[in-house]
Amino acid sequence: MEIILSPSLLAADFTKLSQDIKQAEDGGAKYLHLDVMDGIFVPNISFGLPVIESLRKCTDMVFDVHLMITEPERYIERFIKSGADIVTFHIEATEKPMECIDLIHSNGKKAGIAISPKTPAESVYPYLDKVDMVLCMTVEPGYGGQKYMSDMESKISTLREKAGDDMYIEVDGGIGADNVMSPINAGANVIVAGTAVFGGDITANAKRILEKCVQL
Ligand code: DX5
Ligand code: ZN
Repeated sequence: MEIILSPSLLAADFTKLSQDIKQAEDGGAKYLHLDVMDGIFVPNISFGLPVIESLRKCTDMVFDVHLMITEPERYIERFIKSGADIVTFHIEATEKPMECIDLIHSNGKKAGIAISPKTPAESVYPYLDKVDMVLCMTVEPGYGGQKYMSDMESKISTLREKAGDDMYIEVDGGIGADNVMSPINAGANVIVAGTAVFGGDITANAKRILEKCVQL
């Protein structure tokens, strides 16, 4: 299965986002991971609709929007209008997961469902035949630059086994060139990396991570 790098813009230099994005794309990244935080679902606030709408004008990369917001059903259509290609919401943040998935699909976009470290894999089983991607957090959501939780790997393997070969399984948090093969070996194929891509030479960092990703 194809391994896709999705650099998290949270770690980019916000004074020059379009250049940083271009450099990540030059390094082989196909997705751009956009972390939206509301200060309620997670104890941090990042960026939202107008930033994504502006960035849509400067790149054709796949916008992989990670909504860390409570009751995501309230905003899904507006994020799609802003340019999201994949919309991922947290199972812990909504009482209406099916409504979220239907809203995303009826607007012609791909739906992802995310689980935080303490949430068991079983919580998304009822939705596995409805979504395009499962995002397994490998840090507590809210901040970049945290340490990768290797104990999430059994959850990744369980999800891969349960969801089958065609499901996109994304991992997010604390991943870089030195440890990227661990979640891949467990079954992940979409790799989010913030600090490891945007700290230093962005193009070289992205290339280095992708070079380490040996296809299974
Ligand atoms: C955390 C975000 C991540 C984060 C990853 O809540 O969902 O996408 O930006 O950053 P790194 O790769 O630095 O852990
Ligand atoms: Zn994220």
